[in-house]
Amino acid sequence: MMEIDYDEVVSSLRSAGCVFAEEEADILVESATNRAELIELLGRRISGEPLEYVVGWVLFCGRRIAVAPGVFVPRRRTEFLVECVAALRPSVLLDLCCGSGAIGLSVGGVTELHAADIDVAAVECARRNLDAVGGTVHLGDLYDALPSELRGRFDAVVVNAPYVPTGEIGLMPREARIHEPHVALDGGTDGAGLHRRVSARAMEWLAPGGHLLIETSAQLVDSTLQAVRDAGFTARICESEVLDAVVVVGSRPSR
Ligand SMILES: C[S@@+](CC[C@H](N)C(=O)[O-])C[C@H]1O[C@@H](n2cnc3c(N)ncnc32)[C@H](O)[C@@H]1O
Repeated sequence: MMEIDYDEVVSSLRSAGCVFAEEEADILVESATNRAELIELLGRRISGEPLEYVVGWVLFCGRRIAVAPGVFVPRRRTEFLVECVAALRPSVLLDLCCGSGAIGLSVGGVTELHAADIDVAAVECARRNLDAVGGTVHLGDLYDALPSELRGRFDAVVVNAPYVPTGEIGLMPREARIHEPHVALDGGTDGAGLHRRVSARAMEWLAPGGHLLIETSAQLVDSTLQAVRDAGFTARICESEVLDAVVVVGSRPSR
């Protein structure tokens, strides 16, 4: 066991403004293999780097998902999106705007998993997470990333795209604003720009009876719902008070 003053780690974290100082100290101590490494990790955390980047993982749906600097850190609220898509039992699934790939990885019972993102760092990270389950990760702008043979094959397309209105990024917590890439946050002027683009082309990639699921916010839900309906889907809203999460589910008619 390395020699460390655990209380010193906790008090350094607390002085730096970490609300869950004890929990973070436990994670840092577990992650470091020696005292020098612990000091390095602690220094990074104290300087404001998100804990998840410092240790290289985040707990999501009960498992550790690899994350790396420059890749969006999956949020707890997105576990509700996983719950919604899992309830539909898709066999062939597309996780669009996948980031680390956390959503696709967390849906059980999938026989063919595809994920796509426009950002190289996200795609590399998603490959690290999805290789083990045989998932395929594509690089590119929305559906342009996908080979055309996949058209009409997905039972579900699950999407947590950026949905923060451009003018509100500056109001986000420092860790997100400074450390997460804007391409992962910026949803355009009203926040729903990507929701409209994703919805407009979803029908051609879904199998008959397939579903489009988009995480949104209470503020944006009407715009997201409209985008999904405008694309020809019947749509409904699912909400979780506990996770403060809102999901729009669009359904393609069976025939
Ligand atoms: C809010 S993050 C969510 C990541 C992941 N779905 C999650 O919940 O952890 C949005 C992701 O969308 C990606 N993205 C933004 N614009 C995109 C586009 N036009 N095509 C594909 N991916 C895009 C970003 O690179 C980022 O990884």
